[in-house]
Parts: sequence; structure tokens; C-alpha cells
Amino acid sequence: MRKTLILSFCLLCMTAMGQKSKSTTVSELWLDEMGANKIETGWSISQANKSIDSNPLTVGGVKYERGIGTHAISKVLLNLNGTASKFSALVGVDDEVKSAAASMEFYVLCDRKVVFRSGVMKKGDAAKEINVNLKGVQQLALLVTDANDGISFDHADWLNARIAYAKNKPTIAGIASQKPYILTPKPSVSPRINGARITGATPGKPFLYHIAATGNSPITFSAEGLPEGLTLDKETGIISGKADQEGEYIVKVTARNEVGTATRAMKIVIGKNKLALTPPMGWNSWNCWGLSVSAEKVKASADAMVSSGLINHGWTYMNIDDGWEAPERAANGDIVCNDKFPDMKQLCDYVHAKGLKIGIYSSPGRLTCGGYLGSLNHEQQDADMYAKWGIDYLKYDWCSYGEEFDKTDKSHAEYVKPYTTMKNALAAQNRDIVHSLCQYGMDNVWEWGSTTGQLWRTTGDITDTWQSMSDIGFSQTQNTQYARPGSWNDPDMLVVGKVGWGPSLHATRLTPDEQYTHISLWALLASPLLIGGDMSQMDEFTLSLLTNDEVLDINQDPLGKQAVCVSKQNGKEVWVKELEDGSKAVGLFNRGDNTNVADLFNWAQKESVSTGIKINWSELNISGKQQIRNVWSQKNIAIQDQAFETAVPLHGVVLVRISPVR
Ligand code: GLA
Repeated sequence: MRKTLILSFCLLCMTAMGQKSKSTTVSELWLDEMGANKIETGWSISQANKSIDSNPLTVGGVKYERGIGTHAISKVLLNLNGTASKFSALVGVDDEVKSAAASMEFYVLCDRKVVFRSGVMKKGDAAKEINVNLKGVQQLALLVTDANDGISFDHADWLNARIAYAKNKPTIAGIASQKPYILTPKPSVSPRINGARITGATPGKPFLYHIAATGNSPITFSAEGLPEGLTLDKETGIISGKADQEGEYIVKVTARNEVGTATRAMKIVIGKNKLALTPPMGWNSWNCWGLSVSAEKVKASADAMVSSGLINHGWTYMNIDDGWEAPERAANGDIVCNDKFPDMKQLCDYVHAKGLKIGIYSSPGRLTCGGYLGSLNHEQQDADMYAKWGIDYLKYDWCSYGEEFDKTDKSHAEYVKPYTTMKNALAAQNRDIVHSLCQYGMDNVWEWGSTTGQLWRTTGDITDTWQSMSDIGFSQTQNTQYARPGSWNDPDMLVVGKVGWGPSLHATRLTPDEQYTHISLWALLASPLLIGGDMSQMDEFTLSLLTNDEVLDINQDPLGKQAVCVSKQNGKEVWVKELEDGSKAVGLFNRGDNTNVADLFNWAQKESVSTGIKINWSELNISGKQQIRNVWSQKNIAIQDQAFETAVPLHGVVLVRISPVR
């Protein structure tokens, strides 16, 4: 660790009497000493004194000892507290970039005002110098944009970047500028039945459904109208067995405790192609553990799913992502687990005993994206093994399948082929296995995904930045019509709680407002909800985001519609999801004005950044008196007959449910 370079000098300040001298110590703090990994980057993680690809910092053929390599779109907000005097740096495109496509623009902002703009910089350009006077400035923001041509190859360096300051050492603001605030009310002590109101299974294949319910324990359960072959465990609320008879069964489910009773009708559908009738809800290991996932971590996560109470809100799947496979197959070609997963069958049994389900990961290619063994030419054998272990869900990730694809005519059929092969291999099993396609949206996967599976990723990987989350979430427009029960667009997993994609974790870099946007938007989009954070380290705020049953009801609504954007103007967007009971879930989002780069930051001074957003009944195709219910706070807030208008914080949301007053 480098030591802060201290430059001390004396300012001779003559007092009014002209007799005394005072000294002010000016210190210098280098950006690379402030915690490089806290800087938001559009790709990978920044490190001190290295490029984003971990090479020495080099711009325009010149090597620099100090600085930070980032990737557009990147940003960081620093607290100066008014005692800094100067920011100096050089900026440019790192020479490690091979492609001429790299183009970016650097900005420096002081208290919302742009004070430096580099103009578009390209590979090979000499570094540009920045010298900014910071007198009286409270917050300094550093930004690299993609110059409006996408972020490909945008490796951006801040070189020799440092701040001269007098008293208060500058710090990275991170999300500290906004304190978490909880809107979700505590669940009532009397029972409430939560989770999916419809679920399906194939005739003759094992059925597993845990009735999610909150309220004081112990809760006992009963169910009337179960299909023959299924039984309910009254203490755990787990319905299991095998039903042979096709049909739609309306089951009256009751949960009772010492305080009260709750009853709800749910539908069990026994038939072919009836999996994932609501978007899958659960956890996936990738956004927290990356390739360091292990059986122990999955077990601990399943334990936490129960002990945190998340299971009582409908969270079900425990999905192991990449990193479980051994380097070689067995002599007979069987896939084998690596040392971190000593007994996959036992792990599956452990998870099932809690009423939860378990997922696994592979690639149609030779290797997975993490370089582990894929299923190429072993599809049937792998599906057989998954079924033997007791797997309920497979994420099938394109990765190195590109090698095979490149040998073909690259037609539509060639995109579909690997997923059809696995679909058939899964269908041949004696248990239901949900098929989750992961090929990042190629060939408009939403148009054909449902012929091979139940859900499909629509974009590249999400990361825990506003840019990534909001770009992905708000871009889900051309695929809307393809979402329906059993067929879901998947804009990737949730980046809440402690994430890290590897052994070391950090708190999500999304602010609380941004996290409300994330969960509200994913609920409206009927997206699969897979928690990306470490289950065993859920703080109260994160839990509050994931246990709001009225928000989750929007996501799990049996109609299975995906929200559409009905109004979009200067960063204000209104998204509407039709619900089964005829009401509408409406999200009013304030993305900020993209033409104003200051709006990309969460400045400490917030007053000016809430925006009024209004939605007229004509835009919602409704008329007359409507009840407006704030979904996060679970309170009726108004009755209106023409429009609804509310203040929405920057990067935040107001999520309401609008229903006719009868
Ligand atoms: C790809 C996927 C991720 C994750 C990793 C695993 O990047 O998009 O979600 O599964 O592979 O290596």
C-alpha cells in the first residue's frame, strides 16, 4: 500500500495586525488510494495502478505508474466537504485495447456542474490533462461515457489522478449519500398465504410445492381438492407426490395459527408443458460466488432461505451456476462433480427436504463460460445424470457453443438446435426439469425460446451498477408479447445484497432508490426473480425488498403479462402490467434526463432531483374513479377519476396498483 504523499507548505498569512503567520497543511490524496473497486465500471472491476485488464496503465504509448483503469460507462462520486483545492489528472484510452471501436468521453463535475469535458477520445490519442480548481466544492464526480456508440472496448484510464486538500480527507461517496429506507410493512401475526397461485407438473412426474405463508408459527396447513396422488404435510405445508390425471385442479388452501386463519384458492395444473406457469423465484450462485461456489455454500444458502423467512414469500429455487463440474468425465462419459461438490444427490435431497427446488448449469458447447466442462455430445447422458441427482432446473449457457455454430450456415435453425437437443433430453427424464436458455438474446430468442424451454436470457450479463441494471431493465420492449405462463423473458438475475462474482463480496453499488427500481421493474416485467446476493448475509433492507408480498404478487400474477411502457419523456417512464383481477400495476420511474450527465450521480443535495410524473387514465385505457394503492407501503393513498401524479426521486420509482372503485 502506498503512503499518502504529503506536500506540506506554509502559507504566510498576515493577520489584520500584520504580525502573526499561520500554516495550512495541504495533503495530496491519490485516486488509486481511495478504493478502486468502489468505482462503478461498465465491465469487470477496477484496480489501483492497473488497467481494467490488469496490465500496466499505458496511454498513447506512455506508461504511467499510478492511476485507475476503468471501463465505460464508469463513474465515481467523491465527498470533498469543501476543503479541497485542486484535482489533477490525465485521461485517455488504454493501449491494451486492440479494437479501433474504442471511443469514450471523460467528464469532471463539481457539485452538478460540468467543469471538464475531454471530447471523444480514441485509441492511440495522447492523454489529455485536467486541472480543476476545487475551492468550496462539496462533491466531485468523475465520469466516462461511451460517447454514445456502445461500450465495446472502452478501456478508460484516469492517470496520476489526485486531489489536493486541506482538512477533510476526500472519500468515495458510494451509496452512503442515500441511507436505506424500508417501505415494506412487517407481516401481520395472523397467517397470510403468499407465493404462486398457480403451479403445474407433468402427469406421473414428481410434484413438489411448498405453501408459502407468513404469520406467527406454528402454522398448520390443510388443502381441499388436491389431485389424486398428491398429499400435504400439514406441519410443513409441503405438497408432494405424483398425479397421473391431467386436469386443472382448484385447491382450497388454508393456513391456521393461534391468531387466525387464511384461505386461498390455488390452481394445480397437471398436464404436458405446464412448467414455470409463473416466473421462477429463487436464488442463483453466480452474482455472489461466481466460480467459487461450493456445496457448503449452497447448503448454507438453502438454510438461509428458510431461516431468513424468504421461503415464506414464495422463493423456491436454489440454483447452482457455473463451477461445479470436474475437469474430466468418468470413463463411461458421465459428467462428474468437482471436489467442491462431493455428493450432488445428497445436496439435492437436502434442498428438497426443505420444500425447495434445486437448479444446475451447463453449456451446449465444449466448455462453459467459466472454462468448465460443457455438455457437447453428452446431452442425453448429462440430462440423465441431472435427473438421477434430483435436479429441477437447468440453465443452459451458449458460451463455447460458438465454436460449433461457426462451422454451420449460421441459420435460425442452428441457433435453435442445441436447445432442442437439450429440451428432448430433459423431456425424456422421469422428473420435470425447467429449461432456462442463456444465449444473451441472439436471433431474437424471445420469438422461438418457448419451443425449447420456459425462459430465456434476453441480454448480456448484468452487473451492480445503475447503468447496467437500468439499461437492461428498461430495454425490455420488443419481447413483451412473448411473455406468458410457461414462457418468460429473462433480463438476468438480481443484483441486491452482497454480490461479487467470486470469493470476495461487496454490497451492491445500487442505491436504495435504484434497488426499488430494480425490484419494481423486474416485478412488472414478469421476469424470473433469482436473488444474486449471498443468502447468508441478507441485511434488513435487502430482506424488505424481497419480502413485499404485494410486489411479488405483481410478478407472480397468474395472467403472466409483461409490462409495457406507455409513456416516456425526458427520463420519466411509466410502465403498466395488466393483472388477472382487472387492476393495473403501474410503475412511475424517474431515470433522470440522460442528456444531463449530472443526473447520473446521486448527489448529496437531493431536493432538486425528484420529478413529478403524471399518468392520465386515457394512457391506461381506463376511466372513472380509481383506487390508487401504493404497493411498497401497502396503503391505499388516493381515489382519482382522471389521472395520478406523484413525485419520484431520481433513479427511483413509485409503484402503484390502480383498480376501479366499484
Ligand atoms: C455467462 C452467463 C452468466 C454466468 C456465467 C458463468 O456469463 O451469462 O450468467 O452463468 O456465464 O460462467
